[in-house]
Amino acid sequence: MLDKSSQSLLDQTQQRLKVSLAERDIPKQLRDAMSYSLLSGGKRIRALLCYAAGLALDAPLQRLETASAAIECLHCYSLIHDDLPAMDNDDLRRGKATSHIKFDEATAILAGDALQAIAYDLICSESAFSDKQARQLCLLLAQSSGGVGMVGGQMLDIEATQQQLKLNALENIHRRKTGALISASVVSGAICADTCSEQQLEGLKDYAQNIGLAFQVVDDILDIESTTSELGKPSGADIALEKSTYPALIGIQASKELAQKLYQRAIASLAPIGDNTDLLEKLARLVVHRTY
Ligand code: IPE
Ligand code: IPE
Ligand code: MG
Ligand code: MG
Ligand code: MG
Repeated sequence: MLDKSSQSLLDQTQQRLKVSLAERDIPKQLRDAMSYSLLSGGKRIRALLCYAAGLALDAPLQRLETASAAIECLHCYSLIHDDLPAMDNDDLRRGKATSHIKFDEATAILAGDALQAIAYDLICSESAFSDKQARQLCLLLAQSSGGVGMVGGQMLDIEATQQQLKLNALENIHRRKTGALISASVVSGAICADTCSEQQLEGLKDYAQNIGLAFQVVDDILDIESTTSELGKPSGADIALEKSTYPALIGIQASKELAQKLYQRAIASLAPIGDNTDLLEKLARLVVHRTY
């Protein structure tokens, strides 16, 4: 799926995550649970989006490595909590038992909590960031993952279970629960750069918002069309829980057309960025055409 250079960027992030857990004095059971979920794969699309935006603007790799690692910690925390019995109650994630199944519920909750905290620890401990960059990154991640963003979206997602929503209400949920952190992944890459013009930032934000929504629309489609073994998480979970999804509201075909439209808008948004947008374009394609 990935070419060699993208894979080597992810290897850097992976190494960074490993070392970050290893060098902190974390109780064994908690460390084991954090490592189990954090180091066990996942597509790492958010990390790649951070690199892609940053590299398009010549941001230093050291900063991107740290920002991408922090974002993957937040994302991983969101997955552990999303799978909990009180939330989606799933037993499979990334092809393995979910954290609360492998360990226990209390450990899974705490592993999520600690992964959230370590994201900010990584950013504030990184000397390659200026104070201003560290502050901007922390604010971006706090807003996109908190009540205004991901956690707020998760609340609305739960409230929308077994409900027939209007399309704009569903869009709001998807933009918050998934789009916000995807957008932040892109914008964090721009913060890592020494310079980013207003136009470039606007272009990246547009790109990010389009693929952010597309990501969850495709997730909803895959929940229906893909298999548990391909996804590494239970397929059919949304229907079983009577979740509000795009296919449920507008049908599979219209959902696919929407994903395609969002992809085209994302690509068009890249016009002001410059010549170095290959990876951003490739990732937009991947978000929409992925099979898991
Ligand atoms: C799954 O995200 C959760 C959603 C926001 C839809 P990913 O599909 O990026 O999960 P991993 O990281 O590859 O496992
Ligand atoms: C998850 O949406 C959004 C998160 C914030 C984790 P889903 O509940 O559809 O994600 P999956 O399908 O379990 O990965
Ligand atoms: Mg969910
Ligand atoms: Mg879920
Ligand atoms: Mg899903």
